[in-house]
Amino acid sequence: MILSKRPRRNRKSDTIRAWAEGNRKSDTIRAWAEETTISTKHLIFPLFLTEGEKKKEIIPSMPDIFRFSTDNLLKEIEECCKLGINAFALFPHLEESQKDKFASQSWNENGLYLQTIRLVKKYFPQICLLTDVAMDPYSSDGHDGLVENGKILNDETLEILGKMALAQAQAGSDIIAPSDMMDGRVAYIRQLLDNQNFTDVSIMAYTAKYASSFYAPFRDALDSAPKFGDKKTYQMNPANVKEAIIEAELDEAEGADFLMVKPALAYLDVIKTLRETSNLPIAAYNVSGEYAMVKAAAAQGWLDSQKTMYECLLSMRRAGANVILTYFAKEFAQYEQK
Ligand code: PBG
Repeated sequence: MILSKRPRRNRKSDTIRAWAEGNRKSDTIRAWAEETTISTKHLIFPLFLTEGEKKKEIIPSMPDIFRFSTDNLLKEIEECCKLGINAFALFPHLEESQKDKFASQSWNENGLYLQTIRLVKKYFPQICLLTDVAMDPYSSDGHDGLVENGKILNDETLEILGKMALAQAQAGSDIIAPSDMMDGRVAYIRQLLDNQNFTDVSIMAYTAKYASSFYAPFRDALDSAPKFGDKKTYQMNPANVKEAIIEAELDEAEGADFLMVKPALAYLDVIKTLRETSNLPIAAYNVSGEYAMVKAAAAQGWLDSQKTMYECLLSMRRAGANVILTYFAKEFAQYEQK
């Protein structure tokens, strides 16, 4: 056959075999033609924190992910640093008795979260620590905002988010990540931080955060499911992508340093759209349910966990994500070091 184009030539390489054997580095021709790369430096590892000592609690819907007490969390971070992971997002699990309507534990100086942030930054000043701003882990209503007569109040919530964000910056947070989806929160937090001279603290806005069923394992991890209703009056409708552009323009104008899309895998088009319409770096959150799906299928022997992980994360980079929050970060880093 005479074929003027044979795209397979650019996939040729006797190292394809090497790749299959786990040695991707010697893959010469394929490496030249490769359009997308992914490595540990593109990943942020979310970690769950709980009260007490020497705790490493299993989360049944998230295999190999744990709730750590502060002492064990520090050990986990040390281990991850040795693997080349430099960025972590921290989420607190609180006992029901600690929760209230106003999420008041979220700005308690001596509370679990702020104390742990201080310790993490004391022992690991070189790492990049993202801290979460939203009421749900601390709220007796299980919502991200303040609830009154079954409604989530926007402007009243901003005051609480502001107190939380400022307290986190004072404790040493590098990046404040508001995951609440209230209107105007990026501008509100930016102004508070700047007024208190925290001009170097960044904001990674959860810009296009959808009302998704993929968050279920995360809510198991934090015991943070809403006590009534759902989050559809503040999180976005999965049917919409133009609305993501509206959110992105607002967050950018309000002073966000990064825009995030969440979840990632079912929203690759949204990642691509924001990549094309904004000049800010884009983050993707490969959420708990996406992790759980791969792990559950792998446990049945239906998928290869490592190869599927690699392909999923690569797809997010290909869609345009600069950085990915993923529960696979440690497994990926271990794989990369081999
Ligand atoms: C809540 C929050 C959620 C996640 C991160 N922050 C869940 C929710 O909105 O109910 C989900 C992350 C994941 O599923 O991995 N502020």
